[in-house]
Amino acid sequence: MAESMKGLKRTHRCTEVTQANIGETVTLMGWTAKRRNLGSLIFVDLRDRSGIMQIVFDENDIGTDGFEKAGTIRSEYVLAVTGRVEKRGGAVNEKLPTGTIEVRAVDLRILSESETPPFPIEENSQTREELRLKHRYLDLRRPDLQRNLMVKSKVATLSRNFMAQEGFLEIETPMLAKSTPEGARDYLVPSRIYPGSFFALPQSPQLFKQLLMVSGYDRYFQIARCFRDEDLRADRQPEFTQMDMELSFVDIDDVLDVNERLLKHLWKEILGLDIETPFRRMTWQEAMDRFGSDKPDLRFGMELHDVSDIVKDCGFGVFSGAVASGGTVRGITVEGQAGMPRKKIDALTEFVKGYGLKGLAYLSVQEDGSYKSSFAKFMSQEELDRLVRAMDAKKGDLLLFAADKVKLACETMGALRCEIARNLNLIDKNRFEFLWVVEFPQFEWSEEEQRYTAMHHPFTMPMEEDLAYLDTDLSKVRAKAYDIVLNGCEIGGGSVRIHQNDIQEKMFECLGFTKEQAREQFSFLLDAFRYGVPPHAGLAYGLDRLVMLMLGLDSIRDVIAFPKVKDSSCLMTQAPSPVDGKQLQELGITFIPAEKSEE
Ligand code: AMO
Ligand code: AMP
Repeated sequence: MAESMKGLKRTHRCTEVTQANIGETVTLMGWTAKRRNLGSLIFVDLRDRSGIMQIVFDENDIGTDGFEKAGTIRSEYVLAVTGRVEKRGGAVNEKLPTGTIEVRAVDLRILSESETPPFPIEENSQTREELRLKHRYLDLRRPDLQRNLMVKSKVATLSRNFMAQEGFLEIETPMLAKSTPEGARDYLVPSRIYPGSFFALPQSPQLFKQLLMVSGYDRYFQIARCFRDEDLRADRQPEFTQMDMELSFVDIDDVLDVNERLLKHLWKEILGLDIETPFRRMTWQEAMDRFGSDKPDLRFGMELHDVSDIVKDCGFGVFSGAVASGGTVRGITVEGQAGMPRKKIDALTEFVKGYGLKGLAYLSVQEDGSYKSSFAKFMSQEELDRLVRAMDAKKGDLLLFAADKVKLACETMGALRCEIARNLNLIDKNRFEFLWVVEFPQFEWSEEEQRYTAMHHPFTMPMEEDLAYLDTDLSKVRAKAYDIVLNGCEIGGGSVRIHQNDIQEKMFECLGFTKEQAREQFSFLLDAFRYGVPPHAGLAYGLDRLVMLMLGLDSIRDVIAFPKVKDSSCLMTQAPSPVDGKQLQELGITFIPAEKSEE
């Protein structure tokens, strides 16, 4: 039977009790993590969000009734224990902060009983994630998840305080909004009052924060929930949290500076680490050329080499043919891996085929200086020597090459570089490599839509020196956009915005909007821009991703209390779910089941 707390007050969290409290009486409340019954003594590991305290029940301290009650305790029972803090009678537990002390109970209340949980509640759980997510409220009791969420809370608090000190105002923007084009699909909310019309949940507060600048708020900050209906990955959720900011009367350097100081502050306060500022900066072009990625992981080398010039006339048709048709040949040098077994090279070939590459050519430099290669027979010794030199290779190295269109070859080799680094354990997990990637292309050609789309968003300012290309060659226009990359993951991004109406209108035109379409979607913005717009710029972090990387985790689900799974559903609440016919009727919505495709 559940007892009440009446007359009882918790004095400490479990690990707030230390050796300094020896001799004092404390009252702790928490869950039963473990229970051992040794006949005359009962031990309980009591767990709360701070950690664990060992409780000892001894009939001599707690009396016969109390001892009997302690005998009924089972896993996950919620207890209130009052007792004396003492030096541990038995073995000291080095693993626990409270490992040298224990509490000898003089009073016990069982505040709540528990059924046997469907899986053990323990750190580094081996239980499959599906089962844990179904019972997320139990999963969230695990010490590692509790630590993650506590760090996330601390990051939010520290950031709020830091930004307030820097003169930022925290202002909320609507959740029921109008669709803004950030590239992903919107989550729509039907309007009851206007049947057939919809709100969109915000993909980001982008337009509202720009309007706040027009309204003179100068420096805005918000920890905002964002929604994007896109395919999920390990670092992506359909709803996630941005730490979002916008600043007036600034240029790129001002934004980067305040953000470097913010990140330095967070790393110092949370991890006790001094990260070096200013961060490195790299243009998008350089990042693509050297790392085959716009978010390079700088914790290891293995940079891409462009050997197109070296092989353009060689006898190997795969190489020369690619160059002749406007493509490229890119290689990486894998140090000391000349002896990589054929089977592993085949696995890497399968890996690149997954990206759409037709094959992977290899050459290994043997200890006697000779070459073993999939294409040696097509090339002269001199051509091979030149290639090996261009790759900075030495004896014992393995060279891997991709020949294809520039984008595909670079991106695939970039991904292969990371795959090999993971396989060979080349990544130092304790390192934090921050990088600003700058000068992104303004536009990106969409094969699907057969038109240019905005790489960041349509409100990003082109670099002044590239403005002329807006009329001649959109592929040449670079943007005043920047991403903050940490260990190969994009943790945030932003840009200087267009604050001139004519450039904004031109931008919509370049993106294929007619004047009418632009007005229909963005009339409020274009109107606002007629009344005095300060130059402004901003940035948004993915807060979940930032915390995930800070803690060295692999999955964004480990820093979100109630995450969704791959198909964007919630295993615990079973959302999304069908609704009552009456609800649909009120909204004027009828559901047309998708026709079953014939197998
Ligand atoms: P962007 O679209 O780059 O920029 O988003 C900013 C950051 O949000 C994080 N992020 C995500 N995190 C988890 N799940 C997702 N589905 C997801 N999508 C994005 C990333 C990303 O860097 N309004 C602009 C910012 C600006 O220009 O100020 C914006 O939203 O870490
Ligand atoms: P093939 O001429 O198809 O027998 O290929 C000879 C070698 O070149 C094999 O090792 C292939 O894996 C490799 N290869 C084929 N296509 C490409 C490509 N696009 N880029 C790099 N290597 C390739």
